[in-house]
Amino acid sequence: MKHGVVTGSSRGIGLATVELLTKQPSFRVIGSSTSGNNPLDYSNFKCLKLDLSKSASIDKFIAGLGDVKLDFLINNAGILIEKWDASEIHMDQLKKTFGVNVFGTIELTEKLLPLLNTNSHIINITSDWGSFSEQNFDEFQPHYKMSKAALNMYTKLLAKRLKEKHSKVSSLDPGWTQTDMGGKIAPQLPKEVAVDIFKLLNQKVETGKFWRQGKVRPW
Ligand SMILES: NC(=O)c1ccc[n+]([C@@H]2O[C@H](COP(=O)([O-])OP(=O)(O)OC[C@H]3O[C@@H](n4cnc5c(N)ncnc54)[C@H](OP(=O)(O)O)[C@@H]3O)[C@@H](O)[C@H]2O)c1
Repeated sequence: MKHGVVTGSSRGIGLATVELLTKQPSFRVIGSSTSGNNPLDYSNFKCLKLDLSKSASIDKFIAGLGDVKLDFLINNAGILIEKWDASEIHMDQLKKTFGVNVFGTIELTEKLLPLLNTNSHIINITSDWGSFSEQNFDEFQPHYKMSKAALNMYTKLLAKRLKEKHSKVSSLDPGWTQTDMGGKIAPQLPKEVAVDIFKLLNQKVETGKFWRQGKVRPW
């Protein structure tokens, strides 16, 4: 039996991932949404309320997990609140974006570390937009890009820390995907990313790497 958490399971990539994982009878999944509601109703799934911008909500989420040990944590929840063609820095947007994508995600992860089994796997969903090797790099979406770059560095740091526990930490770049965040014209469907996440979870992989469609990609 594999127990794990998928944050942001109410929509998009998180929802598709939970739909795929819960099809495996050997998986027990705890998801999250900011309201606590979720469209899914499976016996091996429950959804808890989680707002990553609030420490009290993170603590309540962890208390709601009960007496469980985790084999995986998929840090999928994230926000992109700026206009796609905006390049100026707005401190309110920067703080809000980092509040969820970086501080909240790291706070949740750090507080869940004691619950992780040996050989567990943490997957941070980041982005090509958080990469230093992005092919078509431009000045737009600065708050989001900086947040995902910071999360990538956390992946590398945590991978070193957890090596002795034989736990793995990976970043995954899902690619441009049709969701509320990605919009309707994105070339990829959430269920395709869910397959990539599922494969990464079930594969023997080197820790501290950045993945895209089953292959290690440059940071
Ligand atoms: N779509 C793309 O093209 C794309 C590309 C690269 C990377 N990504 C990354 O992939 C991940 C999933 O993206 P998506 O496209 O599926 O996004 P999405 O459809 O906008 O869904 C975002 C999810 O995050 C949750 N969330 C939002 N604010 C939160 C908060 N303050 N605390 C906790 N949860 C919160 C949402 O919950 P509620 O429903 O309750 O609001 C929702 O479940 C994100 O990390 C994103 O940055 C996406």
